[in-house]
Amino acid sequence: MKALVLAGGTGSRMRPLTHTAAKQLIPVGNKPILFYGLEALVAAGVTEIGIVVGDTHREIRDAVGDGGRFGARVTYLRQERPLGLAHAVLIASDFLADDDFVLYLGDNFLVGGIDEVVADFRAARPDAGVLLTRVPDPSAFGVAELGPDGRLARLEEKPAEPRSDLAVVGVYLFTPVIHEAVRAVEPSPRGELEITDALQWLIDQGHVVRPTLVKGYWKDTGTAADLLAVNRTVLDGLTPEVRGTVDEGSVISGRVRVEPGARVVRSRVVGPAVIGAGAEVVDSCVGPYTALAEGCRVVRSGVADSIVLSRAEIAGVGRVEASLVGRDASVHSTDHVSTAHRLVLGDHSSVHIGH
Ligand code: G1P
Repeated sequence: MKALVLAGGTGSRMRPLTHTAAKQLIPVGNKPILFYGLEALVAAGVTEIGIVVGDTHREIRDAVGDGGRFGARVTYLRQERPLGLAHAVLIASDFLADDDFVLYLGDNFLVGGIDEVVADFRAARPDAGVLLTRVPDPSAFGVAELGPDGRLARLEEKPAEPRSDLAVVGVYLFTPVIHEAVRAVEPSPRGELEITDALQWLIDQGHVVRPTLVKGYWKDTGTAADLLAVNRTVLDGLTPEVRGTVDEGSVISGRVRVEPGARVVRSRVVGPAVIGAGAEVVDSCVGPYTALAEGCRVVRSGVADSIVLSRAEIAGVGRVEASLVGRDASVHSTDHVSTAHRLVLGDHSSVHIGH
């Protein structure tokens, strides 16, 4: 069995971070979201992995390499434009050949892995398998309708009026019959070849598409709020360990990881939180639910429920909350007494200023 991992896409809802970085590489709990998926595949015994890349292909290649560090063998497949999930399967047909495969969307986050679903699929070997989960607003996803016998009766992509609360999770299992389906479907109104339509085609042709209800936590990380939610979930499972230095004037409480070379000085760190390698926290309060990436500096500030990327600096600014701070960004106070704010923001940035 192989895997096809999708790591193209523009990440338009996560600008400005995605102007300079692939959305699948934004870290949660200080690890790129894509890595959780690769680890889940390898844990399920799937090590032959094709990664579909787009404009951010260099960055993805630099981060993942040949897959050796994950125990996988990675092949990169270039998709010139994001023309849909079924299109990605279409361009990967040589790589996939006659093997069964897992299609895994690189921005999806699933707690609990996929060992069981892969094992079940291998044993029962239906024509295809989809994972479903109940969500409050299914209209943002593919939506499944089950028949009275529990079989998958119908799938609709982002319907205005969903027929159920069962959203399609971005992990699919396929036998080679899917190649016929992706060749048969036409572009959707959003101009993409939809995997949902290919699955519906399979159902219409009388093939068995097996639904499995996901019990654990799942998130499609389309927005900053999604990333912060996943960050909280990951940090809740953190193994606490102090490998950097914490001075006597500091207090660490709860699940906290302080990575090698990090320094905590006259500060309070409330877990769950991770302080990345070489980061500095001075006269500050960090956490809960905060991930500081490597080389960050937090000075005379409070940071909670946030993701702060590599080498960013936050100094003298009171409390920062529910925030995503990009690489090398700086958030500073000024000496001027003024009611005005001075901002240098990238395109598509968003700032919320309280009164
Ligand atoms: C895609 C699928 C959708 C599925 C979702 C899961 O949506 O088309 O059916 O529910 O992934 O993440 P997209 O992310 O392309 O909008």
